[in-house]
Amino acid sequence: MTYRAIQWTNGVLRLLDQRLLPHTVAYIDYVDYREVAEAIKVMVVRGAPAIGITAAYGMALAAQQSHSSSAEGLRADLGTAAAVLRQARPTAVNLFWALERVLARVANPDWVTADAVRAEVLAEAHAIYELEKQSNFKIGQNALPLVPQGVPDAPTRILHHCNTGPLATGEYGTALRVITAAHEAGKYVHAYVDETRPRLQGARLTAWELQQMGVPHTVIVDGAAAHVMRTVGIALCVVGCDRVAANGDTANKIGTYMLALAARAHGIPFYVVGPTSTIDMAVAGGDDIQIEARPAREVTHIRECQITPDGVQVANPAFDITPARYITAIITEKGVVYPPFTENLARL
Ligand code: MRU
Repeated sequence: MTYRAIQWTNGVLRLLDQRLLPHTVAYIDYVDYREVAEAIKVMVVRGAPAIGITAAYGMALAAQQSHSSSAEGLRADLGTAAAVLRQARPTAVNLFWALERVLARVANPDWVTADAVRAEVLAEAHAIYELEKQSNFKIGQNALPLVPQGVPDAPTRILHHCNTGPLATGEYGTALRVITAAHEAGKYVHAYVDETRPRLQGARLTAWELQQMGVPHTVIVDGAAAHVMRTVGIALCVVGCDRVAANGDTANKIGTYMLALAARAHGIPFYVVGPTSTIDMAVAGGDDIQIEARPAREVTHIRECQITPDGVQVANPAFDITPARYITAIITEKGVVYPPFTENLARL
């Protein structure tokens, strides 16, 4: 992998601007946590785990920015920064999970100086990055037995939605890691990549990542998914997750629910893939997950080009809920979880 979506060097947070991919590879440097919150909001960085990691580094910037000379003063400033970062996007629980981890760590009364608190914030951000990286790697290993070997003339065809690769997670990826780990293990796989309107994370980001990793793939429009299932023989579907409720209901990129329904109609296994940081046991079911409504412009325009008539009415829900009954299993770093999800996720 020759790119890294999130980098921290000498007090500067560097993000790969995912809005410009695949044709422009450009980085933006951040030293202000408020600008990091904006970067998450406008999707310079996106994908649930990547949002969480970025927010943690945003807290490290806030610690640097604070002029407070006391540990207590700095803790108060960090509370303010967390409140700003929390507003960036509502659905991916990793954002809130990461902020809570940082706040819990600095609440420790052992840290009596402001500099000690600053060091702890940065250490926690690095720890979160490393944790997600290791989780992603284990996810790939745990998923391997679920992916048939395939042969060169008849590879295992896997349908994937949105972008869940290194760009979305820091390193390795989640649902995409199921595909790349199988490829690395010598299995013959072919990814069918949903373009994922309106932000085109599949067409722009997933195809770019798979190209660099040398994994065979075909981009399809979202509306082609059921047709592809019926005609080319999809062996399994893999999707990421932004928040998994205690009963297994899953919020993920808009279009996931439709895929799950089509997969069920064709008898195709449908796997949700994510680290346990994306499981929110405090939420009982999908109806309690807030679905982000994004700007109409994402639907009316592709980049600068308007594709709809002037003044058209638009709805732009960024995520949907796939009811647990359509999910074959949830693949995590701690293992593959099968129904009944309420019992088995609690055990996890
Ligand atoms: O709006 P995005 O691009 O942040 O949405 C991303 C997704 O829905 C992903 O599937 C999810 O975050 C999992 S990323 C490993």
